[in-house]
This record gives sequence, C-alpha cells and structure tokens, in this order.
Amino acid sequence: MRGLILAGGLATRLRPLTQVTNKHLLPVYNKPMIFYPLDSIIKSGVKEILILSSSDHAGHFANLLGSGDQFGVRLYYVIQDNPKGGIANAISLAEEFAGGQNLLVVLGDNIFGYDLKPAVEYFDKKGKGAIVFGVKMPTESKQYGVIEMDTQGKVLSIEEKPEHPKSDIAQTGIYMYDSRVFDFVRNLKPSQRGELEVTDLNNHYLKEATLECRLIDWWIDAGTSHDELLRANNMVAEKIAKGVIK
Ligand code: G1P
Repeated sequence: MRGLILAGGLATRLRPLTQVTNKHLLPVYNKPMIFYPLDSIIKSGVKEILILSSSDHAGHFANLLGSGDQFGVRLYYVIQDNPKGGIANAISLAEEFAGGQNLLVVLGDNIFGYDLKPAVEYFDKKGKGAIVFGVKMPTESKQYGVIEMDTQGKVLSIEEKPEHPKSDIAQTGIYMYDSRVFDFVRNLKPSQRGELEVTDLNNHYLKEATLECRLIDWWIDAGTSHDELLRANNMVAEKIAKGVIK
C-alpha cells in the first residue's frame, strides 16, 4: 500500500488566512495541519507517501517535511495544476507513483485518531475493491457524502450532499483503493460543480459490490471554515491533554 495526501486547492473559505499560504500549513494547536494526516498514515505502516499540492506551495511542503527521513518514511511530491479538478482528479495524479499497488488516500485537512493499520493489512490481503471511512454525524451530514451501509460494513449507497440523507454516516476524506482506481477515474465526468467527484468514483466500486465502509469514532475536517479550524485547534488541544494523540 502507498499513501497519498491531498494538500492542494484554493481554500477560499479560509481567506485571508490562505491568501499567501496553503491551508494545510496553517497551525492546528502546536503543529501545521498536514502533520495530523501524515502521522495517521505513518502509524498505519505505509512507508511511501506522495504529497499533492499546487505549484505555489509545493516548495513549502518540501521545506517543512523534507525527504521523510525524520519520520522514517519516504516522501514524494506532485503538483496539481488545476486546483478545482476535484478529489478524483487529484487521485489520478498518483498513478505513476502507485505503480500498481493499493493506495491509501487522506485529505490533508482531516484530523482523526483512528488506527488505520488493521485496515491497511486487511485491504492488502484482500487485494480488490475499496474501503471508505465514515463517521456518524447526524445533523451535519448533508454537507458531506452520505453513506448507507449494512451491518457487515457493505456499502449500499453513497450520495453526494443529498437533500434527504438516507443515513447519519458522513463520508470522510479517507479512502483505500485497489490499482484499478485510475481506470475508474478515467471514466468519470465532471459534476455540476465541475469536479471529478470522489463519490462518483466510489460508486464504481459500489456497482461491483466491492465497496466497504469502516466507521471511525472521531474526525474533524479542519479546513472547511474558520469555525471548524477553531474547533480543530480546541479539539486537538483537548486530545493531547488527555493523551489520545501526541
Ligand atoms: C468532499 C467529498 C464529500 C466528503 C468530504 C469530506 O466534499 O465530496 O463526499 O464527505 O469531501 O471532507 P467537499 O469538501 O469537496 O465539498
């Protein structure tokens, strides 16, 4: 399994904080935001990790994180020219890097405490399909992809920001894919907002009944608004104080 962190985008919702810097470099309590998803991937045992960002900011990530030696992993960097291409477009840029292996994708503003290691080991053994990670979020799920699943974890439906959600499970920005993901992305058409949607991508796996969902206990999408960024800072401070995360 190889890892991919998506740290591109324009982050217009966080202006002026993101006027001259990348959202994923903003502080969350005592570290730049990207440290949290990076740490989650490192803990999962994945050792080769690609960081995707814009040409404006790729050098900043390289300055901050370097070769990965300090973390015991190997880091690679790639540029997304079109920051509005969508998550699936961003994933497509990892094709060469993935080199036919499975891919763990994490959005660079996702902070969570879930241990991905057992899922990585399970998925590498299974070898086919995809896993999407969901979180229970009763009131806000309409802002996200919404996942309906059975008691075995098999996904029954995923809808992007539905008017009438079929469940209270929101799709997070954590995904595992087999090597066919790049062929599926090639078949996607841009959505109404002009993006190649991760929900459409996941629906390809759903159609062939190889999409599973794992529930994670807590998750925060730190980059969605000033309020969520503030909440992320407070939540991380609290989790560190309680020893839940370092
Ligand atoms: C994207 C996905 C959505 C998912 C969310 C998680 O939404 O399209 O399904 O729930 O990430 O952060 P976006 O933030 O692009 O609107």
